[in-house]
Amino acid sequence: MRSPLINVMVKAATKAARRLRRDFGEVENLQVSRKGPADFVSQSDLKAEEIIRQELSVARPEFAFLMEESAGGVTKPGDEPTWVVDPLDGTANFLHGLPHFAVSLALVERGEVTAGVVYDPIKEELFVAERGKGAYLNDRRLRVSGRKRLDESLVATGIPFKGVRDHGLFLAELEAVMAETAGVRRWGVASLDLAYVAAGRYDGYWERDLAAWDWAAGVLIVREAGGYVSQMDGRTFALDGPSILAANPHLHRDLQKLIGRKKSRA
Ligand code: IPD
Ligand code: CA
Ligand code: CA
Ligand code: CA
Repeated sequence: MRSPLINVMVKAATKAARRLRRDFGEVENLQVSRKGPADFVSQSDLKAEEIIRQELSVARPEFAFLMEESAGGVTKPGDEPTWVVDPLDGTANFLHGLPHFAVSLALVERGEVTAGVVYDPIKEELFVAERGKGAYLNDRRLRVSGRKRLDESLVATGIPFKGVRDHGLFLAELEAVMAETAGVRRWGVASLDLAYVAAGRYDGYWERDLAAWDWAAGVLIVREAGGYVSQMDGRTFALDGPSILAANPHLHRDLQKLIGRKKSRA
């Protein structure tokens, strides 16, 4: 049975998701603006954020917010219980009619993620986790994959954009992972990449330079499914970055050795 807290989060996520699903059907009519190079925001991102803020602030008026579209330069939750929210993770997919995006909500208390929800409105897949209580996909308990061999593993990543000019470091990592694993995937939705590691669909995932709202919910979901999460060089993961490596416990160290010490080719 879900706790009252998770119910509050699921209600907010599904309400925002309903709006995203509706907008996705008429995406060509949406207003879109640019926040920076290759960084778009649509009416739908903003509307979903507003819906979530409203739902969560009624349910828990004393909690703070760190939300992508209204973060105003803040990158880290403070000491008070804080909702860390990505109202639409995968805006580029959404705007191109690719049916792969998600709503991501996390509760962070004293620096620790204590609850997380990632909801894919198109596939109707709801990933939830609460600290110490396991991770679930639509009420089915999740467990990371048991694969032990790199050459049988499927690993996800994100390709740097947003004005990054030096792709050399990423290309060196990619080359190393390509050479040793069974394949690399890049779907452009960090919260779902993490949820898929938790579900055993991917054996690992790495990316750098994202924000707390991309990672927070997914990190807890992976850990509660028995996976390991760190920075790419093996140090303790931090919500404000700079990098992430999530994997099943058998492959985490091997992947870290592969990508943690790469130098830029540029
Ligand atoms: C993006 C996604 C994607 C990652 C990008 C993010 P947004 O978030 O999480 O996986 O590779 O860097 O910006 O902007 O669509 O919420
Ligand atoms: Ca964005
Ligand atoms: Ca995001
Ligand atoms: Ca977003």
